[in-house]
Amino acid sequence: MELTKTPNHVAIIMDGNGRWAKQRNLPRTAGHKAGAARVEEIIETSGNLGIKSLSLFAFSTENWKRPKNEIKNIMKLLEYYLKNNVEDLSKNGIRLNLLGDISKLDEALQNQLKLALLKTENNDKMMLNIGLNYGGQDEILRAVRGTLMDCIKMGKDPEEISKEYFEDHLDTAKQAMVDLLIRPSGEYRISNFLLYQCAYAEFWFSDILWPDFTKEKYLEALEDYANRQRRFGGVNV
Ligand code: IPE
Ligand code: IPE
Ligand code: MG
Repeated sequence: MELTKTPNHVAIIMDGNGRWAKQRNLPRTAGHKAGAARVEEIIETSGNLGIKSLSLFAFSTENWKRPKNEIKNIMKLLEYYLKNNVEDLSKNGIRLNLLGDISKLDEALQNQLKLALLKTENNDKMMLNIGLNYGGQDEILRAVRGTLMDCIKMGKDPEEISKEYFEDHLDTAKQAMVDLLIRPSGEYRISNFLLYQCAYAEFWFSDILWPDFTKEKYLEALEDYANRQRRFGGVNV
């Protein structure tokens, strides 16, 4: 498919797994499994279309409020995903990057994630950002701390902190701001995802639940984006 305008950075809040399972009288964990199975096609499609950054929200700083068993299940699915897909990601030129503070995750999973980062670090076709223990507010706070620490270390005057310098301390350092934010599941909120980076994002909402989010739906969102008029505060001439 030819898009008249392709976003550089697409962010997706993968929501609705629990409701998908409930509709089928299945446990929530079955919904997460079905949701995880959707990811591959979306990554592949994004890479083929020339999207430069794809950000997927997998686990938020607020998701720790969920039952222990559900959290454990989500982490297991992630482990399984990494085990089975890192080779393919690497072969397809995809570089993995993590959004969020992974130091709260299980140590074995942390090591697996670090290895995946290393394995894909030389790829440059597309950046795949995965949000894990990620919250936009937490990210901004960490970036402020990091910026200040660097200033203190280098004796830099805070007045000299530029927008670019600050942005290099975000989890998306050197990447484009979000052009398109996709949220399925019928909720009309951002739920703490990429707050800074979505400053001028186009939003695309749908009632469809994440495990039903097909490539066709994705293309529909991208086509819709291609027809949006973005003004960034200016006027169209
Ligand atoms: C999104 O699906 C997955 C995570 C937050 C990890 P949910 O589990 O939030 O599904 P709903 O919103 O309950 O349907
Ligand atoms: C957002 O979904 C987080 C992820 C998809 C990882 P939630 O289900 O946690 O969001 P709320 O609670 O509906 O805002
Ligand atoms: Mg939800």
